[in-house]
Amino acid sequence: MNIGLLHPGEMGTSVGEALQAGGARVFWASEFRSAATRVRATRAGFRELPTLVDLCRQCQAIVSVLPPDACADVATQVLAANFRGVYLDASAKAPDQSRQTARAFRREGIDFVDGAIIGPPIRAGSITQLYLAGSRAGEVAHWFAGSGFRTQVMGGQPGTASVLKQCDSIVNKAFLALLYQGLELAERQGVRAQLLAHWSRDAGSAVSVALAHQRLRRSAPKAPRFAAEMADIARTLQALQLPDASATAAQHLFQRLAVELDAVDAGGDAPLLKAAGWPGADDRGQAQSAGQQGSQGSADPA
Ligand SMILES: NC(=O)c1ccc[n+]([C@@H]2O[C@H](COP(=O)([O-])OP(=O)(O)OC[C@H]3O[C@@H](n4cnc5c(N)ncnc54)[C@H](OP(=O)(O)O)[C@@H]3O)[C@@H](O)[C@H]2O)c1
Repeated sequence: MNIGLLHPGEMGTSVGEALQAGGARVFWASEFRSAATRVRATRAGFRELPTLVDLCRQCQAIVSVLPPDACADVATQVLAANFRGVYLDASAKAPDQSRQTARAFRREGIDFVDGAIIGPPIRAGSITQLYLAGSRAGEVAHWFAGSGFRTQVMGGQPGTASVLKQCDSIVNKAFLALLYQGLELAERQGVRAQLLAHWSRDAGSAVSVALAHQRLRRSAPKAPRFAAEMADIARTLQALQLPDASATAAQHLFQRLAVELDAVDAGGDAPLLKAAGWPGADDRGQAQSAGQQGSQGSADPA
């Protein structure tokens, strides 16, 4: 089977490798993509096609693994390209958006499967969860048989997998945002060292210092994606008339972090990053390469 991968990012590449190992021919569309995406796609042995339209013509299935703020637009482009087949959207996205896309696709005879990935890209025998919902979810699960993606079919209703992802993300990423905030406040008030010492000593603390450092360093380069995900979660909470302050606060914190990362690249100041123990631009490179190597265990919010 020919499967189109939109697009070979960090997680998309891992998904494509799993599909390839299961016997699928994996294609990617190079138009508008960066050099980094090309490097990942080439290393993984994915087959290049020039455009998304070519990919829609040649593939019986498409797998989308995109940043939250990109997947709706890309789904619209796939619809416009007259794709016919199965479409798995495994991006972190709002459940409402998933249902909307499923309806639009169904009208055109495309089977939409809602997917949610919880865990890091697969590395050396690691396991990551892939939740699936939709009428052809069982069939899609078979594509991943024998891979590090442990699939679970959540039923026939698209949106269910995305709901689960949002519930998990708000806990993990809001906690991460709180870590940043606690450290920044401590830094401003001159008690950062004491706070870290307290966390190290207090066996009952919710914070393990080693884990905190690992999470802060590895997740900082993902701040723009995390901010978009938190904005989606805030909208989900608002639609249910639930308090959305936690998601909105985390969104703002990740937006600040993204601005500081750009400032670090430009040689500027980054108080929030520094409070989190991020000394400077060199560290960004180290953290990015750590991200490319994948995380160890489940310490990183995904
Ligand atoms: N990485 C993880 O550990 C992890 C874990 C669980 C779930 N996920 C989910 O997986 C999805 C992808 O994450 P990732 O870490 O793989 O992201 P990533 O490494 O940043 O890759 C994103 C890919 O999408 C492409 N892209 C970005 N913006 C686009 C746009 N507007 N239109 C079309 N293509 C676009 C990028 O291409 P260019 O850069 O070439 O433009 C890149 O190939 C997210 O929904 C995330 O929540 C990731």
